[in-house]
Amino acid sequence: MTPSGSGDKAHRGLLITFEGPEGSGKTTLIDALSEELARRGCESLQLREPGGTSIGERVRSVLLDHSSRGMCAETELLLMEASRAQLVREKIQPALEAGLIVLCDRYADASTAYQGYGRGLGEKLVERFNKFATGGLQPDLTFLCLLPPAEGRDRLKQRKTDRLDREDHEFHDRVYEGYQALASSGHPRFVVLDASVTPDAVRDDAMSHLARLEHGLLKFL
Ligand code: TMP
Repeated sequence: MTPSGSGDKAHRGLLITFEGPEGSGKTTLIDALSEELARRGCESLQLREPGGTSIGERVRSVLLDHSSRGMCAETELLLMEASRAQLVREKIQPALEAGLIVLCDRYADASTAYQGYGRGLGEKLVERFNKFATGGLQPDLTFLCLLPPAEGRDRLKQRKTDRLDREDHEFHDRVYEGYQALASSGHPRFVVLDASVTPDAVRDDAMSHLARLEHGLLKFL
C-alpha cells in the first residue's frame, strides 16, 4: 500500500479525522459536517473506529462490551490496531483513491491518547503500532474536540455507557492530557475546537477552518 496523506498526495481524496475525549460531540459534528458538505455538492464517507468494517465492528464489540472487563492494556491496543488495519485497507484507501472526503470518527491519535497516555503504554510504542496498522497513512486534517473531563462526564450521564466510558476519572484525565499534548505539538494537521459551546457553534467553527484551508479542500468547497 502506498502511504499517503498530508505531505504525500498519492491519493485524490481527503482524510479528515475527529478526536476528543468522551462526550466531546464528535459524532454530532461529523453528521453536521457531512450534511453541510453534501449541500455544497461534496460527497463524503463517514467511518468510525474501532469498527467501520464487518470485521472491525466485531472487534469493536469485543473491545467495548462490559464482559471484556479483564482485558489487559496490550490486548486493547492490539485490537484497536487490528480494527484500524482492516479499515484502512478495506475502506479508507479505496475511498481516497476514488476522490472522496473521508470523515473518520477517531483514528490513530485515539490510541496515542487512550492507550499511550490513558493506559500508560507510552506514546513511542503506540506510534510504532499505529504506523504498522495504517501503513503510514496520515490524516490530512484532524479536528481535536476538546472538552474538560468533568464536562464530558456530565454529558455521558445522558447516554448508554460502554466499558471504556466506565473507566475511572484518573484514566479519563490522562486521556485528556494526551489530547492536550497532541494539540500543543504544533503539527499543522491539528485544528483544536472548543467543544464546550453549542453543536451549531462547533460546526460553524469547523466549517470556517475547512473553508480557510489552502490545500486540497478548496477544490472540494
Ligand atoms: P467512541 O465512543 O468515540 O465510538 O469510541 C469508542 C471508544 O474506544 C472510546 O472510549 C475511545 C476508545 N478508543 C481507544 O481507546 N483507542 C482507540 O484507538 C480508539 C479508536 C478508540
